[in-house]
Amino acid sequence: MNAADLASTAQAIVAPGKGILAADESHPTIEKRFKGIGTPSTEDNRRAYRQLLFTTEGMEQFISGVILFDETLRQQADDGTPLGEVLSNRGVIPGIKVDKGAKALAGHAGEKVTEGLDGLRDRLAEYRGLGARFAKWRAVITIGDGIPSRACIAANAHALARYAALCQEAGLVPIVEPEVLMDGDHTFERCEEVTVDTLTAVYAELHGQGVALEGTLLKPNMVVSGKTCPAQASVAEVAAVTVRTLRRTVPSAVPGIVFLSGGQSPELATAHLNAMNLLGDHPWELSFSYGRALQEHALKAWGGKAANVAAAQQAFHHRAHCNGAARSGGYSSEMERSAPDLAPAAHG
Ligand code: 13P
Repeated sequence: MNAADLASTAQAIVAPGKGILAADESHPTIEKRFKGIGTPSTEDNRRAYRQLLFTTEGMEQFISGVILFDETLRQQADDGTPLGEVLSNRGVIPGIKVDKGAKALAGHAGEKVTEGLDGLRDRLAEYRGLGARFAKWRAVITIGDGIPSRACIAANAHALARYAALCQEAGLVPIVEPEVLMDGDHTFERCEEVTVDTLTAVYAELHGQGVALEGTLLKPNMVVSGKTCPAQASVAEVAAVTVRTLRRTVPSAVPGIVFLSGGQSPELATAHLNAMNLLGDHPWELSFSYGRALQEHALKAWGGKAANVAAAQQAFHHRAHCNGAARSGGYSSEMERSAPDLAPAAHG
């Protein structure tokens, strides 16, 4: 794939009204999610659940791409169609998580660095053969007493850039995901400061490794108050400061920014995206790449039971619809109320 093909794939992923479903939970993470609904994380339960999401009627109006876990790209729907093909057959672009997880950073207690560069060239070639057109690598930055360290930000930014260059060589659009965690009692201002430092380092490294920004997407956290900070920033504050942070750090050659939800409630994640898009013309598309915020209600409605597939699909369709509307500032609380039997409790 040449640079123009990479750029057009990146643009297709952030097409108006659409965003990404992150369904690439690793085995330990999906086990945690299934535990919450009392369902064992067997290979077939994981397959059935992902099939449920991917076969939701009409989801392709709002979902441009799906990030898969390795296992899912090798699984098949009930009728034998590979799950990646189930997506591409309806015009949804399959992507793949390629990092090997965040591991303890040597000499830096409480901090992590993402592993997975060794052998990545070969894995990317295989994934492309299996139909993936984009990839994801998640770096984790933790805010705490005296952290993040410069070492943590530098190591993660460098790994993201090495990954992104390998992806482009293999013809895959890299989603660059430096996640500043919302866990902790840090202030809104501290999140802003760390997010600015992190994104500044990431774009310096991407430049250093010769990555063509037009063929990439950024998946950042929003600037929010720490989860247990007594003072919580409002939707308007989160929107304004997140956009200001991105304007200070992300070159306009990047076609799109696809936020992670990071533990925000589904409704709040939608409201934040909507508020940012209402702030007007931005140099990049502002979209979503939500995991929990797109799946939480669907997972609960499913509860691991085949009889609940239709209800779960309805819940997923509704959240996808709401986030699709938030792409252009068209989301409203009426939209939530209009969801049949699904009206989620109002968020705080
Ligand atoms: P959340 O939206 O649940 O944070 O997940 C997105 C994701 O893919 C994290 O890597």
